[in-house]
Amino acid sequence: MRRSEPQKTSGVDALWINVHLATLAGDAPYGRIDDGALAVAGDKLAWVGRARRLPPQIRAAARQVHDGHGRWITPGLVDCHTHLVYAGCRAGEFEQRLKGLSYEQIARSGGGILATVRATRQADEQTLFDQSLPRLASLLAEGVTTVEIKSGYGLDFETELRQLRVARRLAEALPVRICPTFLGAHALPPEFNGRADDYIDFVCEQLLPEVARRKLATTADAFCERIAFTPRQAERFLHAAQALGFSLKLHAEQLSDSGGAALAARLGALSADHLEYVSEDGIRSLASAGSVAVLLPGAFYFLRETRRPPVADFRRLGLPMAVATDSNPGSSPCGSLLLMLNMACTLFGLTPEEALAGVTRNAAHALGLAQRIGTLEPGKQADFVLWDIADPSELAYFMGYNPCRQVVFKGVLRPPCP
Ligand code: NIG
Ligand code: FE
Repeated sequence: MRRSEPQKTSGVDALWINVHLATLAGDAPYGRIDDGALAVAGDKLAWVGRARRLPPQIRAAARQVHDGHGRWITPGLVDCHTHLVYAGCRAGEFEQRLKGLSYEQIARSGGGILATVRATRQADEQTLFDQSLPRLASLLAEGVTTVEIKSGYGLDFETELRQLRVARRLAEALPVRICPTFLGAHALPPEFNGRADDYIDFVCEQLLPEVARRKLATTADAFCERIAFTPRQAERFLHAAQALGFSLKLHAEQLSDSGGAALAARLGALSADHLEYVSEDGIRSLASAGSVAVLLPGAFYFLRETRRPPVADFRRLGLPMAVATDSNPGSSPCGSLLLMLNMACTLFGLTPEEALAGVTRNAAHALGLAQRIGTLEPGKQADFVLWDIADPSELAYFMGYNPCRQVVFKGVLRPPCP
């Protein structure tokens, strides 16, 4: 596939040789190319293929040649679902849950998401930034080059905008691509108690237009669940967002089958996320809408859920699967996307190859960025990771061990995070 692509021979900034490639493109498992080479021009990949087919003019044009010492290269990892900008900590709720209280019980008694809303509202922008930065750095240390970050812990005018501003500042502070998502319909804030429709009005009429005007997010998301918003309410919000040009995502069927998948499909959402309780009809409609199923094994594990997403049906019906951390203080206080690969395999039954596709190619799809990132192909962004592994399956195999050795983001070797 790659060899037939047009080859850029001038202005090659860097050439990587003595590497194996998991391109996540083409028909071979992992898109693997043993004994490969990869050339970078500017912020893009210029050539990807077998070393022995490397055109001599590319080798001659390369300003720098890096010896990869037999390491594996994958696309930069993509964490396509996080809530990592928040203040405070919910370890106390973890203790309560270990004593027998459920996530839903805690949420209904004013804890859960609303506990983080209180802490986040109280935090000024710098505090929020300072608390969020190490969580992002933890992802980056494992070769993550793109991170989606949702708001949704403000649920008022000022705090939602503050969360999104912090997401933007994080992108300026660290070498990573941030995709900000406005999760305006995450939970009902206390000042709207019993008035969920009024809250949706407020979000549609006041918050959404402001987020759009300030270009703080280009994607909108909602939590469609019995402890959050009904499909009708989620639809009103998503519809208003779509009319303003937002692309869409939806937290759907996490704790019950609430009809979120059908809604996401009807609105052409980029993804429906969680999906433990999704029905076969829901899967069919998502597949035909071209959506992605984002699986969040960290939340499943941490909430000690028992109902798995129907992975065999996703495969059978052709619904692509992404995998993400869901990094958040309540259901997935997780700083490791690699660990999610392992859990996606052990808990949900994905193959290591599916898990890796889930944090590269399919995660890029879930962000609407499949044309730019997620595979190693000429013309795509030069985001890639060098791993000290003997086979790409090891990325899903290790638990709590990080074989990431070097990361290139937009063509530039990334320094270790502070
Ligand atoms: O994706 N499902 C909704 N939101 C988060 C949980 C947020 C929280 O508990 O703070 C999730 O699991
Ligand atoms: Fe989430």
